[in-house]
This record gives sequence, structure tokens and C-alpha cells, in this order.
Amino acid sequence: MIQYMTAKEAADKWNISQRRVSILCAENRIPDVAMLGRMWIIPLDAEKPLDARMKRNESEKEVVRPFVKWAGGKGQLLDVLKKNLPMGLGKTVTKYAEPFVGGGALLFALLNQYHFESVFINDNNKELMNAYTVIKVRCLELFDELEILQNEYSSLLTEGRQQYFYQKREQFNSLILGESTAVEKAALFIFLNRTCFNGLYRVNKMGHFNVPAGKYKNPLIYDKENLLGLSEVLQSVTILSGDYRALENYIDHDTFVYFDPPYRPLNATSGFTSYTEDQFSDKDQIALASFYRVLSEKGAKVMLSNSDPKNTNPDDNFFDDLYEGFSIQRINASRMINSKADKRGNITELLIKNY
Ligand SMILES: C[S@@+](CC[C@H](N)C(=O)[O-])C[C@H]1O[C@@H](n2cnc3c(N)ncnc32)[C@H](O)[C@@H]1O
Repeated sequence: MIQYMTAKEAADKWNISQRRVSILCAENRIPDVAMLGRMWIIPLDAEKPLDARMKRNESEKEVVRPFVKWAGGKGQLLDVLKKNLPMGLGKTVTKYAEPFVGGGALLFALLNQYHFESVFINDNNKELMNAYTVIKVRCLELFDELEILQNEYSSLLTEGRQQYFYQKREQFNSLILGESTAVEKAALFIFLNRTCFNGLYRVNKMGHFNVPAGKYKNPLIYDKENLLGLSEVLQSVTILSGDYRALENYIDHDTFVYFDPPYRPLNATSGFTSYTEDQFSDKDQIALASFYRVLSEKGAKVMLSNSDPKNTNPDDNFFDDLYEGFSIQRINASRMINSKADKRGNITELLIKNY
């Protein structure tokens, strides 16, 4: 009978990262590996593949990055956000919750750096959360689909790529999300995000994705190594898809919560708020502020980002009034989702904390 070890045990034995072991398994580079549920198991006497890269040192962790470009993504603000994390993160503050996760810039930065007892993420964009779930539980099937998309797309010239994009967009819109379409939809979702204009996600009144083709030279659609890493870190993450309030029961005094809701538009036309069919109105911002207070009273550590109305109207105290009593900082930020380059100037945004 063959005796097996887990990917973690193999990683320790060979002094390589667990993620590298998963990649080697997925690439059939270790004989006789098998899958037990969602885990790779490796024959105990397997030899370390010759070209497996060594970890440079014990504390080194391979980093994972968001798998989509997302409107309002916090990649640009990570340094500021990291400086504003609560004390004791990963030690006394053992849980993390992100109710408007989007592309998860802060989520993945934290997962790269901290160990949490539990992590909860949510977004009301069902297609996005389906992609998170498929990466977590059906990663290898997703790879097959992405590989086809990447190869077909790369083999075409510019015009052919445009046609291919619109064909895949139609296919995505015609499929109803369900168990049997989950992997195909996740692959198309990633493909469209990587090849559409500015990596936007926008839908029409019928809920159909309607962003036009982008003009990237050679977009990387299928980043296998990163996806494997994401799959690994997502194993301990609970993924929900619905209204942000659904996270309430998961949040307690040991939880750090980061709210990054759709921003309140600075004026009627500047706001990008249609991530899904529904808009996020002032009424919603007010309801969110009440929810923020509820979590704060539970003892959770809560941080929230939003636009600063004072950029366009110094007398607008909307958020200063709503979040009175909390720490309100104005931080410098550049708006990335704005098709007019001249409007991409530096403006301030709000960072509101209860600690
Ligand atoms: C500013 S984006 C978050 C960006 C994210 N921090 C990132 O780094 O990519 C806001 C997100 O809120 C989601 N959203 C909008 N209304 C929501 C609601 N009522 N409940 C949960 N999520 C919602 C949108 O789908 C969008 O992904």
C-alpha cells in the first residue's frame, strides 16, 4: 500500500513552499500524486523534483495578488491602509471580514501577511463571488477552461481578438449561473475582466455585462501560479454573496472589518457606482453608517473608506455628520476609474476608524 504525505509535509521535507508543491502536482511533475477531496497527497517516498525552487528563507512566503482588476480597487492605497490597521491583528484580533470585497486588494495583502482564525468575505456581485468560490474549490477545472481561452485568444490578430471577445461576452451573458455552469462562467468572467476596457464590470438594465473590448497587447488571462496560490489561501475563507448585512452574525469583538462600499459620487456624473444592477444611494450610505455603529458596539475594529465630498463642496458634511465620534482622516488618493485622463488628479478620500 502506498503511504502518502500532505502538500504541507512535502513542502517542509523539501524546503519549498506549499504552493510550489501544488504547482508541481498540477503539472504532473511528481509521479503518483492523487487528490483527496481538495487536497493533493504525495507518495511518502517521492523524490523532490530536481528544478523545484528553494525557499530563500523560512519566513519567506510567496505572495498572492487579486485575480481581477476592479473599479475602486484598493491596490493604490494599500500602503496607507496597512498603516491604519488595528493593533494586535492576527494575535488578539483573530478574525477578518470584508463585506464589500470586490477584487480583494486588502484581503490578499492581509492573507499574505497574517494568520487569521477565520476570514469572511462578501460582495453582492454574484459572478465575482462565483469566481472566488471556483478558484477555491474547482481550481483545476478552471485551469482547463482558462488555458483554452488564453490559447485561442493569443492565436488571433487584433480584429479576430475583438470578435472573440464579443462572442465570449455573449456566451457569458447567455449562461445562467448554477452548479453546471459555475466553472465556465468563472473562466469567462476572468477572461472578460482581463480583456475588456479598463477591467470594468458594468451591466445593463437586464443585468447583462456590457463593457466593450479593451486594447491590451498581450493580456495575461491565465496566471496559473497566482491562481494556485489564491486557491490555497482561500481554503480558510468563508465566501458569501449577497447584501453586506449578511455578515453581521459572523462578526464579533475579535473581528477586524474593512468596509469599502461603492463611493458616494462627488457630483452627479463622476461617480462609478454601477458594479451591479443596483445603485448605492445616500440612503444606503446612511444605513451603512448605522450598521458600522452596530458592529462598533459589538467591539469589532472597523475601518471604512469613502469619497470625500469636500473635494467639490467644502461645506458638505455628509460623512462628517454620519460618522461623528469616530476617527475621520482625509488621505491623498488618485482616482483610477476615470476614462478622462485629465480628471485623474490627486484628491482626498476618507478613512474612518473606530480605534
Ligand atoms: C469599492 S468596491 C470594493 C473594491 C475592493 N476594495 C477592491 O480592492 O477591489 C465596492 C464593492 O461593493 C459591492 N456592493 C455594492 N453594493 C453592495 C451591497 N449592498 N452589499 C454588498 N456588496 C455590495 C460592489 O459589487 C463592489 O464590488
